Amino acid sequence: MRKRTGLLIGLVLVLLLVLVALAIPWRASKTAPATAPRPPSATAVPTAPPVVGADGIGDPYFPRAGNGGYDVTAYDIAVRYDPPTDRLEGHTTLTATATESLSRFNLDLRLPASAVTVNDQPATIHQDGGELQVTPAAPVPSGAQMTVRVAYAGVPSSVSGGTEVQSPWVRTADGAVAVGEPDIAAWWYPSNDHPSDKATFTITAVVPAGLQVISNGALLGGPEAVGPGLQQWRWQETEPMATYLAFVAIGNYDIVRRDTRFGLYLAAYDRALDPAIADAARASVEQTPQIIEFLSGIFGPYPFRQLGGVVPDASLGFALEDQTRPVYAPTFFDDGQNVTVVVHELAHQWFGDSVSVDHWSDIWLNEGFATYAEWLYAERNGGPTAAQTAAQNYARHPAGDDFWRTPPGAPGAASVFNNAVYVRGAMALQALRVALGDQNFFAVLRAWATERAGGNGSVQDFLALVKHVSGKSVDALAQTWLVSPARPPAAPG
Ligand code: TRP
Ligand code: ZN
Repeated sequence: MRKRTGLLIGLVLVLLLVLVALAIPWRASKTAPATAPRPPSATAVPTAPPVVGADGIGDPYFPRAGNGGYDVTAYDIAVRYDPPTDRLEGHTTLTATATESLSRFNLDLRLPASAVTVNDQPATIHQDGGELQVTPAAPVPSGAQMTVRVAYAGVPSSVSGGTEVQSPWVRTADGAVAVGEPDIAAWWYPSNDHPSDKATFTITAVVPAGLQVISNGALLGGPEAVGPGLQQWRWQETEPMATYLAFVAIGNYDIVRRDTRFGLYLAAYDRALDPAIADAARASVEQTPQIIEFLSGIFGPYPFRQLGGVVPDASLGFALEDQTRPVYAPTFFDDGQNVTVVVHELAHQWFGDSVSVDHWSDIWLNEGFATYAEWLYAERNGGPTAAQTAAQNYARHPAGDDFWRTPPGAPGAASVFNNAVYVRGAMALQALRVALGDQNFFAVLRAWATERAGGNGSVQDFLALVKHVSGKSVDALAQTWLVSPARPPAAPG
């Protein structure tokens, strides 16, 4: 009885307290005079004196790539593009968190910027050689969120610089396509241009009515009329994405869509393609869902919610693993169907896109793995075994061949896309497979893809995982196949 009364009194007291607590903010908002909202910088925690953010994120091969002092969480890219003049006008918003107290920081952008605001306050800017210096009206404290809006405009195909011979912004008969690695972002949007700072993306483009815009992820809307003779398309990628994997293709495209168990499949074929090439391209790219099915059986679940591909009528000379929707050069289909290139770009969705390199020096984790996926596809579809393909490639390059001078685990800045990174890189995986046995080898690939999904990793991290999963140290194997600039004594296996 006494206990019960005590409990009741207790309950009533708690109830009263809750009511009072609930009433306080309500009363306060009714009676207290309105106060200005606290600026985001007015935190109780004392912050370090502001510093100037570095003009590079610390990549050993590309010291000016990316920037220091902040971490981008989201890009909202909005561009208007006029194909006849190749003029692009952009208004892009970055949401980022300062990782240092910043009096100034850089963005990577090669088109001229006209105005920048940081947390809605006009900032002072200075632009030089792909670096856009931003001095906010007030320093941004470490740990604070910042919203950076950049207005810019220019002619992307006339922009020079970067690491590539060919401009990564390529004009086509009716539009343009933005595809490049490691450089493309700075030709069309401001960013922290490095794969170690991944973020979500919303990509909006306004183009002349009648043209199509294809990009990454989900089609949120479009074509939607937004002015006389203008239409807007909106795309969104909600999985973290590296800056070089964001793309747009603008032009006259035939769009193919269908639902698959991996999400919406959307592919686009330039209407200007030669009909024979267009047919061969379709016959290949339309196998995307089956190939993803095949690869997910080996590497684990497909990491994204959309899938597809784009074939522009542009002499790109390569394909690029743009996230959810690779872009393929038409030349891949000159001799008819080509499933190998599709397997390669789709394997990158696991190795490169979902799990991205820490630094460009880790490129083997992308290209060696995607090439090995081609060999696995052949092995399991009536072709040569991966061991046979490795042996053929080993035999093809005698000792003294330049091929052996580029070690895939340390190719150097000028050789990140050297053939050896691909082919010797895949041989290294074959050597690893023989050393570990199939069960451990495939367990390692799967663990790498699933444990680091949406993130990054280095060659060292991968070798540590090998040791963790298999219990074996593969230091000597890594030295022979990944680091030494010489032909290993024997073919793998
Ligand atoms: N990652 C691409 C692939 O192997 C190749 C590549 C290297 C690339 N540099 C490029 C593609 C520049 C486009 C542009 O699939
Ligand atoms: Zn590749």
